[in-house]
Amino acid sequence: MSNNTQAFDEWLRTRFVEINSQLETIYWQQADKANVEFVGEQFKHQLEAEGNAHIRKLLAEGNTDEGFDRAFDLLGNVGLFMAACRRHEITEPSRETRSPLVEASALAMHIGASIGVTPRFATAHLTTHNKAVNGLYKRFTDLSDEKLFIDYNTKGILAYKRAADALLKIQPLGISHPLCGDLLKVAKQALMDVIESNTALYNQLDTERFFFCVRPYYKPYRVGKEIYRGANAGDFAGINVIDMLLGLCFANEPSYSQMLVDKFLYMMPEDQQILRESMRMPSLMDDFLAAGEARHSAWFKTNAKLFIQVCKLHGDTAIGHHNQLVSKFIAQPAQQMQQQHMNKVTASGPPLHVLLDSLEQLRDRRAAAKRDDIKTRYHDLTQLKQWVGN
Ligand code: HEM
Repeated sequence: MSNNTQAFDEWLRTRFVEINSQLETIYWQQADKANVEFVGEQFKHQLEAEGNAHIRKLLAEGNTDEGFDRAFDLLGNVGLFMAACRRHEITEPSRETRSPLVEASALAMHIGASIGVTPRFATAHLTTHNKAVNGLYKRFTDLSDEKLFIDYNTKGILAYKRAADALLKIQPLGISHPLCGDLLKVAKQALMDVIESNTALYNQLDTERFFFCVRPYYKPYRVGKEIYRGANAGDFAGINVIDMLLGLCFANEPSYSQMLVDKFLYMMPEDQQILRESMRMPSLMDDFLAAGEARHSAWFKTNAKLFIQVCKLHGDTAIGHHNQLVSKFIAQPAQQMQQQHMNKVTASGPPLHVLLDSLEQLRDRRAAAKRDDIKTRYHDLTQLKQWVGN
């Protein structure tokens, strides 16, 4: 790591966290906690000036070509700085036509384009690819709610990835293979882990702290002239690999494929590759339906039962995400929020009701709910359940 990269990383792990935390304390004391205008100005100036001083040196240094991991990490650091500037409204995409953080934008675009990801910080930077030093990984603030949120996001993502890996391994073996059942059991356990971790997050996270002091760091911001949507815990391939390999969602359905197209560059290149490949794979649901003639055989009954249980659990993770996490931590507090701040609520930018509607559709596809307006696997799963006598 170059000296400049190292110095910037140290600044992010220390001063950056101190300044953000100071500002959070100030905002939190106000009657309108969502207001950030004209408060804590000296801290905001410090943040901007100190961050820019580091970035100027890094930009001048140019591409030191220290490999993908270093480049990705540095992009994350620049991104955390830009996201914090957005949170404190040092920048504000609707106010500007290009980011006032000219040097940070240039550095982020240089790195992002060269490694094939968006030029902003992504979920992986804070979760699965966030190196801890002496037990402390990178964060915006020292608030315990932020740590809780990141810990459980990481746990959930890792568990979804375990489920996706197991399902991918079934592909070359086939649904009648003696080890298919073992892999379905691994997927089952992993999805139960997602549910357990999301339930813990639901029970432990403080709604107001999350809504006012954590979520705002995940807003969209401008890099150069483009606005890049906020990071969310869904920006990894595993969740969609599970959707498509189970056969609950379809890569050729417009709203689903739109979501995939939109998220590609927010994922690590290795995840982009996995997602591309799984978009071309047949689903287990179709395999089981096509093997209907074998429905009285022992392998079919065992494996189809496990498959149905995996589908049920995947649906349950989506129901929990929507009905618990999104509802408690986004939808309900947003209702109480002063109207003037309402257009700033979601990480991806669309109005809240549009976002909630699309998340609801995803939930119902994953849960194979009975719906007439969108395609779900309700009837196909019912058929499979009848075959195995469920
Ligand atoms: C997307 C809320 C935690 C998985 C989203 C979105 C919202 C949201 C509002 C839509 C994207 C946007 O705002 O632009 C929350 C809240 C959480 C939480 C309030 C906790 C306080 C988690 C966790 C996971 C997760 C722990 C597990 C890995 C996903 C996924 C997506 C997503 C996969 C992408 C859409 C999808 O495929 O369902 N989340 N989330 N979320 N979140 Fe969460």
